[in-house]
Amino acid sequence: PLPVVVLISGSGSNLQAFIDGQARGELPIDIRAVISNRADAYGLERARAAGIPGEVLSHRGFDDRASYDRALAEVIDRHEPGLVILAGFMRILSDAFVTHYLGRLINIHPSLLPDFRGLHTHERALESAVQVHGCSVHFVIPELDAGPLIVQAEVPVWPDDTPETLARRVQIQEHRIYPLAVRWLAEGRVCMREGRTWMDGRPLEQTPRI
Ligand code: GAR
Repeated sequence: PLPVVVLISGSGSNLQAFIDGQARGELPIDIRAVISNRADAYGLERARAAGIPGEVLSHRGFDDRASYDRALAEVIDRHEPGLVILAGFMRILSDAFVTHYLGRLINIHPSLLPDFRGLHTHERALESAVQVHGCSVHFVIPELDAGPLIVQAEVPVWPDDTPETLARRVQIQEHRIYPLAVRWLAEGRVCMREGRTWMDGRPLEQTPRI
């Protein structure tokens, strides 16, 4: 199985999807550690319940982003992961950190990228009156939410949606596509090369929407 480290800041529902997929025998990964920048992240409880080591590295007390990111990389690298998974890790990462993990660092973002990079995606989708919204799994590059896409899922937007109802609908899809993307990576079907996503030995022309 592929050794992975999962970074979280909050609820950890995507982490739970990995734990469940692994328990069902559908995900050939070994979650070596869950690391949170917040001590009160509920995802740490999920890790504990699954017998996965949890660690907290608070960003408080560090002088700047670069020094926090160096400390974070040190903690991660102790586990020698082949893949580092951002699962609701709500921090911008420095160029040096991203470059260190280039090609083995992935993220899930709650929008159909390239639409709505950054925060408050569901509010912004409602303000823009889009009829289709969704989520994206992508490789992480230094530019925020701009890395090569691996897979996306769409959801409809209904007239009476609130950011909360929309977020719930999107998260159901996140819990499908994130484990799937990780499975493709673990099976060696997907990789990043020459700044793009490759699938089954060919550059991906169109991001799968499932
Ligand atoms: C997810 O919806 C994820 O897409 C989002 O945070 C949530 C974490 O939920 N990530 C971002 O907004 C990244 N900028 P979880 O802790 O329950 O997995």
